[in-house]
Amino acid sequence: MPKNIAIFASGTGSNAKKIIEYLNQNARITVSLIVSNNPSAKVLGMAKGKGIPTLLVTRKKLYENEDILKIFNEYSIDYVVLAGFLWLVPMCLVKAYENRMVNIHPALLPKFGGKGMYGMNVHKAVKEAGEKESGMTIHYVNEQYDDGSIVFQKSCTLTDDDTPQSIADKVLSLEHRYFPIIINKLVSIS
Ligand code: GAR
Repeated sequence: MPKNIAIFASGTGSNAKKIIEYLNQNARITVSLIVSNNPSAKVLGMAKGKGIPTLLVTRKKLYENEDILKIFNEYSIDYVVLAGFLWLVPMCLVKAYENRMVNIHPALLPKFGGKGMYGMNVHKAVKEAGEKESGMTIHYVNEQYDDGSIVFQKSCTLTDDDTPQSIADKVLSLEHRYFPIIINKLVSIS
């Protein structure tokens, strides 16, 4: 039986796309569901184009009851990946997917993490702090923002000429390169 992944994404979905394309080579892992809280997220169109079911969630739908867990069970979801999802994951999923749910963060945690630290906010903070390096972190998800144990990090060097946008570009290219590979490994051994 192939293992089924659900990806939560609320933005462009470039990481989700890279993961889907990379896993196409692995018949034992399927991206079976894309979950988003943003009806205009590009990721939804991308998923539909690839024939992957999508689920739009509201805060009510996510936090008021455990319906999301029932849906994940219907899709036989084995592993959960957060790729640009900015809300806290409900407790029922944190518990059900302990050590089977990872998030990507666009900085070297534990620095530059926590509530409000997403996207360009992170890269602006890195620039303002005069950091000589930044990078990507993949970590297990717990009930707090950017707090679970770290699975993988990769850094890139920054220079004085870097801007928040150029830092974002450097980090995103690391994410595209390593995130699919790490997901493939983690899901394979889970
Ligand atoms: C990624 O850079 C990811 O690290 C970041 O959102 C971006 C999503 O890009 N996540 C966070 O900031 C979470 N705190 P994408 O939609 O193009 O994959």
